Amino acid sequence: MLTIRYLGHSAFSIDDGQREVLIDPFLSGNPTAATSHEEHQPVAILLTHAHNDHVGDAVAIAKRENAPIITTYELANYLASEGAQTIGGNHGGTVKFAGGSAKIVPAWHTSSYTTSSGQVVAPGVPAGFVVRFGGETVYFAGDTCLFGDMQLIGEEGLDAAVLPIGDHFTMGPEDALRAVKMLKPKVAIPCHYNTFDLIAQDEREWAKKVESETDTRVAVLAPGESVALGS
Ligand code: NI
Ligand code: MN
Repeated sequence: MLTIRYLGHSAFSIDDGQREVLIDPFLSGNPTAATSHEEHQPVAILLTHAHNDHVGDAVAIAKRENAPIITTYELANYLASEGAQTIGGNHGGTVKFAGGSAKIVPAWHTSSYTTSSGQVVAPGVPAGFVVRFGGETVYFAGDTCLFGDMQLIGEEGLDAAVLPIGDHFTMGPEDALRAVKMLKPKVAIPCHYNTFDLIAQDEREWAKKVESETDTRVAVLAPGESVALGS
């Protein structure tokens, strides 16, 4: 069994009943954040890419909890230089963490990071994750457009898919619906919308459309809410 809790924007906490894993923990400075980073005790932190609305508090949490940041190789090396424990992998590779694993899959996006001193660096390329944890398989798309290889990711047998629907920086609702049709998850969870005006979307309307055109159930989560998978 796996509990997926939405923390706002693209930040999630997943829990198998014994351990927590964080994904893209942008909490400080996130106007929709449901928690503060001090509340979390993850065994690992997964980062899809370097944009600050995804890296967020990852370094502070990793240092405090002595938990590894799992991400693509160049970003892992960069964050290691900031003092975090990291594990760098790359597309196609599976990285293990306590209780589970994360397969690094492609995402179409960019990946730059603005440091605390205002310098912009671009460590590596973005990714998504196919996470196996608590007996469930969950795809976190990260920030991406629609791409045809989602068909291959769907062949992994997805219990859930977490997809951006905000448009402008990622795919919007129409392409996210096409993504669901390729991925065929049991449950779809929208994210990366309504944090800022630029990515305002009607998530209920999207959910209705997905559920009328596919066999996928949509779990719309307000920040702080969670959905339990499996039993
Ligand atoms: Ni991004
Ligand atoms: Mn983003």
